[in-house]
Amino acid sequence: MHIQLATQYPENHALAVLIGDGDALSAGAEKLNTISSGYILGSLKKLGFKSAKGKVQILSALPDQPYTALAVLAAGDLTGLKGADVESVVASLYHATKSAGFADLAIDMGSFPAEQVAHAMFALTLASYRFDKYFGAAKLEKAPSLKSVTLICDDVAEVEAAFAPLKAIADGVIVARDLVSEPANVLYPQSYADRIKGFESLGLKVEVLGEDEMTKLGMFSLLGVGLGSRKESKLVVMQWLGADDKAAQPVAFVGKGVTFDTGGISIKPAEGMEDMKWDMGGSATVVGTMVALAGRKAKVNAIGVVGLVENMPDGNAQRPGDVVTAMSGTTIEVINTDAEGRLVLADALWYTQDRFKPQFMIDLATLTGAMIIALGMDYAGVFSNNDDLAEKISEASKSVSENTWRMPLPTQYEKQIDSKIADIRNIGGRPGGSITAALFLQRFVNNVPWAHLDIAPTAWTNEQRLPTVPEGATGWGVRTLDALVKAHYEV
Ligand code: BES
Ligand code: MN
Ligand code: ZN
Repeated sequence: MHIQLATQYPENHALAVLIGDGDALSAGAEKLNTISSGYILGSLKKLGFKSAKGKVQILSALPDQPYTALAVLAAGDLTGLKGADVESVVASLYHATKSAGFADLAIDMGSFPAEQVAHAMFALTLASYRFDKYFGAAKLEKAPSLKSVTLICDDVAEVEAAFAPLKAIADGVIVARDLVSEPANVLYPQSYADRIKGFESLGLKVEVLGEDEMTKLGMFSLLGVGLGSRKESKLVVMQWLGADDKAAQPVAFVGKGVTFDTGGISIKPAEGMEDMKWDMGGSATVVGTMVALAGRKAKVNAIGVVGLVENMPDGNAQRPGDVVTAMSGTTIEVINTDAEGRLVLADALWYTQDRFKPQFMIDLATLTGAMIIALGMDYAGVFSNNDDLAEKISEASKSVSENTWRMPLPTQYEKQIDSKIADIRNIGGRPGGSITAALFLQRFVNNVPWAHLDIAPTAWTNEQRLPTVPEGATGWGVRTLDALVKAHYEV
């Protein structure tokens, strides 16, 4: 969808005006509208319109008016609107009007601060996201009727300046959504690494390690997962050096990038297995975050490391009971080949802290079905060895309407992942399945502040949960990590 700015009502557009608590219409409406606010309010009254934030009433085309239609958007307290409120009401307006029949909508944002108009552009960008590249002409025809939105504002240049960093964040979210949406025959470790290489144009430095390099590094925990796949496993390292001091200690993000998870020899049931194309969601969030940071030239040194592996059953696949040695030297008994994400992250985490000595390390992974059982679909679980980092993640996620919930890392559960023949085993039984997975990861983290985000609940949604997050791939976490960096780690 096209989103643009103007200072005047463009002809042949439907017009949306905002209505606040207590019948206040957006101030610009008075000067733009040839219709009196009394007329609008009277019509709303007749229709029994009850103002509730985000509610939209469409008034059909009126005689003697230039507008093809008039949409009234309830926005709450018009003077005290915050970025997040603007995002949610404007995204709701998009959904209420996208299939109303008109192609062009103008939203009267005159008199709103440039920052809020920028948040409206941001919300429209995220709300109108569609992954339609595999639709043929007939299906594309059925796309929403709404093709363009023009935001009427006081000062185009000022809004454009305010939108620039938000645009970079939206780009990052959309990169993550696109990656997660791709089927696994299109997105596999090599093709994924190639796509990441493409982001070098933003100023990211990208290195791709193949199986030979990883063998030399001793990453047999990660490599074991890829043994059953015809596709070569990859580890991709992204660097954004945006701090003035290029040697300043970086922050680091690590992602699980299992491009398809059949379960391996511990194979999953057929039903729903197609969902496992999004088992690379953690890595997509890392890539999206790096794109956002580079795109807005964040003053931080940031590292993104993603372990890209396909988990397949095959004559060469690893077996339940195999023992592998991770890069750290820790030996792992692989009881269940479907608990593969932790095996990938074990080496990716160790490599990251060993090479980059980061200020903190945050990993993201669609790690456990148990996380969905524990928290439902609206919260990602946060596990951390550091209260300060955990608190900062919580604040950052709240600030961008992404939900997180802190989970414990109780040492007494460590015995669940003890092995009879190796240092540890890769599953800890059903009780606290997400927790024992996190405890497993912690075995590969030394003294660095670390957090693990289990995003199995939030990486994908079968229904629209927030107006800015359509069904499908969510891009969850890009906004949280970007907000975290912005609030505390830019110098
Ligand atoms: N990728 C899955 C976890 C998952 C399940 C993510 C559903 C999103 C939706 C992970 O690799 C896995 O298979 N975990 C197992 C662990 C078990 C074998 C200990 C699980 O959750 O069942
Ligand atoms: Mn699995
Ligand atoms: Zn998995």
